[in-house]
Amino acid sequence: MNLTKSIMQRVSLSQTAAILFAATAITGFAQTNAPVPVIQVQADKVTAKMPPTFYGLMTEEINYSYEGGLYGELIRNRTFKSDSLPQPIKPDNYDPAKYYPAKFPANVAPKFWNRVGGAALVLDTNAPLNDALNVSLKLDASTASKTSPAGVANSGYWGIPVQPRTTYKVSFFAKAVPGFTGPLTASIVSTNGKVLASAEISGVTGEWQKFEATLKTKSVKPSKDNVFKITTATPGTIWLQQVSLFPPTYKNRPNGDRADISQLLTDAQPKFLRFPGGNYVEGNNFNERFNWKQMIGPVEQRPGHRSCWGYWSTDGFGLPEFLGWCQDVGMEPVLAVFAGYTLNGNHVTNGPALEPYVQEALEEIEYVTGDASTKWGAQRIKDGYPNPFPLRYVEIGNEDFFDKSGSYDGRFAQFYDAIKAKYPQLQIISTAGVKSRMADLNDEHYYLSEAAMEGQSFKYDTYDRANKTKVFVGEWATQPSSPTPNMAGALGDAAWMCCMERNADVVIMHCYAPLFVNVSKLNGPDRSMQWSYNLIGYDALNSYGSPAYYAQKMFGLHKGDTVLGILAQNLPVRTAPAGRGGGTRQVKSLFYSATRDSASGKIIVKIVNSADTPQPVTIDISGVKSVAAKGTATVLKAANRTETNSIKDPQHLVPVTEKIRQLGTSFTRTFPPCSVTVLELDAR
Ligand code: AHR
Repeated sequence: MNLTKSIMQRVSLSQTAAILFAATAITGFAQTNAPVPVIQVQADKVTAKMPPTFYGLMTEEINYSYEGGLYGELIRNRTFKSDSLPQPIKPDNYDPAKYYPAKFPANVAPKFWNRVGGAALVLDTNAPLNDALNVSLKLDASTASKTSPAGVANSGYWGIPVQPRTTYKVSFFAKAVPGFTGPLTASIVSTNGKVLASAEISGVTGEWQKFEATLKTKSVKPSKDNVFKITTATPGTIWLQQVSLFPPTYKNRPNGDRADISQLLTDAQPKFLRFPGGNYVEGNNFNERFNWKQMIGPVEQRPGHRSCWGYWSTDGFGLPEFLGWCQDVGMEPVLAVFAGYTLNGNHVTNGPALEPYVQEALEEIEYVTGDASTKWGAQRIKDGYPNPFPLRYVEIGNEDFFDKSGSYDGRFAQFYDAIKAKYPQLQIISTAGVKSRMADLNDEHYYLSEAAMEGQSFKYDTYDRANKTKVFVGEWATQPSSPTPNMAGALGDAAWMCCMERNADVVIMHCYAPLFVNVSKLNGPDRSMQWSYNLIGYDALNSYGSPAYYAQKMFGLHKGDTVLGILAQNLPVRTAPAGRGGGTRQVKSLFYSATRDSASGKIIVKIVNSADTPQPVTIDISGVKSVAAKGTATVLKAANRTETNSIKDPQHLVPVTEKIRQLGTSFTRTFPPCSVTVLELDAR
């Protein structure tokens, strides 16, 4: 039957008038005479199976995502390499199998470390711990005494967080001039001088040794205005390297992650993790790419590197830790491999010069998926991960549409052929258009204003289904406010997620970006934020999800396993900013999708009302015998679109679930202004 006709039959003029009257009575808002939108859910028309990896996460080291974020490490610049001098290397002069040691300025005290008492600090390249950590901190404590101990202090990533009755693990490598007897004291001290926990460490000699201790807090208040110190009351000279302080980690995984942030992620039930970037996989230069072989094994054997987002990475959060994160949260890895192109525009042409990178990618896949009989699978087991990880998707590079040399097609083909030959089951993702091979998926990126995101939220409805390459929206975000999006972001995102859900036969995976931001220092030199719009914010002590995070969580938790046909009539519009040129434009203000959970039979309808006024909507469900009168509505809403969550007000906007009535195969419900709603309907 013709939809318009069917709708007109269902919603007679008198019904519409009654609905408008009811909406006005409930909300007190004046209504226009616009016709009531009608959404028809076709429960007997399955348009797609919901892909198991539909909702995921995208991540890279940006905005202090790992170091100063998810990674449990509390000490900043623990390897003293943040001062290393840039040594950009072009591909022609670069041997991918070689490590190019960091170089340091002379007579410099390491960044983010301060002296305590009369100590003098300097970077010392003459006393390296090993080839990877080819520098150390030389601490001249010759003035030390019982009344004035000397040492070093570290303020962490904008604070050292302390929780009551908690055990922190300290470890470091140290050696001293002959005759130094110590002991050393490791402590956490508040910035006003109160010692919150401390431990004595003795046995420092003229040879490098690893020392470990625990620091236990008593019933102190949670705080972050603290420093970590290593001091001595005995005169002498001491060298330090790999100074580490860990709180209890999520699921107690060694070298693991911060619990509060991990919990936020787990709560949203993402199904995959796209890593390690983003730009981070590429690096600014060949010697600054994501070189996974230098990011495995014991952390003190990892040299670290200068990341493309302007700060040093120790790579303590390396390839095994990405996998550990997947394990913690229950996600499947989506592995992006370095593809011979760096952010400064240099590339390696396909052919023999590219081959080492192709082999590197094959070995990386083996590290992730191999068993004990394989070289790299055995290495992963040695690194603490006995079970191979399920891997279905490998991405070749990142945003290679920026490579204006035209080399991507050839580079992609070389990776594609080698990976398919060894791992025919793997799906290969391209990051730019390719002609010589058919990519299984292409990665599309969208960073847009709210109006633009809503404006493109019907994009895939008209996608050419003859195109066999599926879509991976590997980076997307509505960008209304910084450091994390406000309700406008959640509205644009939800509209866009409705579009992707309706078209899950085409868009088989997607992930928001960037995921994390440390909100401690948003501006100025040495700031904690490099990208202005991010899903989850935190400082050293607390974390919060933006309204956009909660919209994603609502969608992720209510995805169903089949996508249902859905039609709409009388879609309303609102006036929105036109964009950079100023002015206004009309954009649709109602967005929708419907899925079903076959186990429970529940029909899940998502409705986004991005208007500033309440919106009555008639929902018709065809193809079922009945829909129970009672159901639930989970609603995220705000009084206006600029409302938001923040580190100081983390739960200002959160979804609320309520029981609702008067449902059936046809019902009308008024959706609040600026709202995202998930309806769960019991259908038979
Ligand atoms: O998400 C931030 C950056 O945006 C990514 O690193 C890059 O892929 C994109 O340009």
